[in-house]
Amino acid sequence: MDAIVALAKRRGFVFPASDIYGGINGFWDYGPLGVALKNNIRDSWWRAMVECPPVGPDGEPLQIVGLDSSIIQNARAWEASGHVGGFSDPMVDCRESKSRYRADQLVCAPVQREDDESGEVLAWLAVAEGSEAPDDFRKRADKLLKKKGGGRSAAPAELVAFADLPTETRAQVMGPDASEPGTLTEPREFNLMFQTYVGALATEDTKTYLRPETAQGIFLNFRNVLDTSRVKVPFGIAQVGKAFRNEVTPRNFIFRSREFEQMEMEFFCHESEARQWYDFWKNERLRWWEGLGVSSDRLRLRDHDEDELAHYSSACVDVEYQYPFTAPNYGELEGIAHRGCHDLSAHTEHSNAKLEYFDPVKKERFTPHVIEPASGLTRAVLVVLCEAYTVDETRPSNELMKIPSRLAPIKVGVFPLVAKDGLPELARPIYEDLRQRWTAQYDAKQAIGKRYARMDEAGTPYCVTVDGDTKADGTVTIRDRDTGAQERVGSDRIVEYLTERLG
Ligand code: GAP
Repeated sequence: MDAIVALAKRRGFVFPASDIYGGINGFWDYGPLGVALKNNIRDSWWRAMVECPPVGPDGEPLQIVGLDSSIIQNARAWEASGHVGGFSDPMVDCRESKSRYRADQLVCAPVQREDDESGEVLAWLAVAEGSEAPDDFRKRADKLLKKKGGGRSAAPAELVAFADLPTETRAQVMGPDASEPGTLTEPREFNLMFQTYVGALATEDTKTYLRPETAQGIFLNFRNVLDTSRVKVPFGIAQVGKAFRNEVTPRNFIFRSREFEQMEMEFFCHESEARQWYDFWKNERLRWWEGLGVSSDRLRLRDHDEDELAHYSSACVDVEYQYPFTAPNYGELEGIAHRGCHDLSAHTEHSNAKLEYFDPVKKERFTPHVIEPASGLTRAVLVVLCEAYTVDETRPSNELMKIPSRLAPIKVGVFPLVAKDGLPELARPIYEDLRQRWTAQYDAKQAIGKRYARMDEAGTPYCVTVDGDTKADGTVTIRDRDTGAQERVGSDRIVEYLTERLG
């Protein structure tokens, strides 16, 4: 993962936000290659959802329309959606170190003396889950014992979540970054929404939030879309855009950030067909990720257990990917949720707007149920980077990015072998022509090996090089990124050659 992060920064895919000021945790900037890759993934999703949606079980293409709703909405929308009251994690603060931990990720172990058969618990030590080796734990435990008369500590016996300890015991726990016990607060609910004020006055009345998901903007516009676009149930509304969550533990590069992008689609259907559409979208979304070039060996579907489901949801499945930092386990990439009629009903209740559908054929009025495939665009960028990263010691650069051609930020590099002998004059018109069709880059500087290496790292599938023979017989070499093989092709056939391969 470190190598991927380093390459992403070195080549201009992803930079830490506010880099020159030391960064800001959980925020990332997408550089010239990163924004192009992100846009290409976004376009591919939009095409598959809105412009050319899949064909439904009845053989007819589905109806899905697009939307771009505002990031900031009336605060009442977030009360109705349940985000003001419920979108929170239980947090524990350390009064000494000022660190903050998620209560469910803070685990505690009792400190006992190794030779004490009574098993008396002298103190409790907290560790952030998965962060500390047993040896480090014992070092801290020994230190604590020194203050209590010395002795060697026993290996940690049991691990208990901080939130599950009795209140009186919690007061004796020493936090992961503290030097004294008793500095951790009781768990408190911490809302993940970023709050802001609209207008000049910062009062309760002007308070609102940056959206934590793009989905709610779709529900808010259900009536508008229905009234203006002639869609009939079943139909979908799709949206791509920024979402913001003040995540307590942003981590793993762009996997969990505080500002990110989502690609969400709400598919509205009759309750009696909801289960069938849920199954349809589950398979369809997995197929889409595979079609994007993500290896099926590292993708899987995982059904949520009953206790993972939101109270209104009757089923949810995650498309998971085996990230380098989760392997051999998997992490979430997309969730496909059966949301019932929860959202439309909640907004109807809070706004009094009737968010219903009238079926003119069956003469039936009903609140549609919703199947929601919701994925992270920035998380998709991470998956494509992880999939593409390849080490090959035989190459000019040891590292290359095998990004699928249609997602590659640059499709073709054009180089004169040397920047003299009339070669730039031949390469330039080729570049001028190719850039009309594909994202192309012209580069005449440095040794040719270095230029190939740069393009390999950028994930550019083809490089066209003009050399001495071009002057003699009008041919160029075209180099394939994945094989490194070079073919001689007539200048008049370059477009045809690339069209066959790039589309
Ligand atoms: N509307 C449903 C919803 O927002 P979610 O599972 O919370 O569901 C959907 O988010 C997707 O958004 C996730 O599968 C993930 O890909 C992406 N996502 C969520 N939180 C994220 C974060 N903090 N950073 C990056 N991506 C995130």
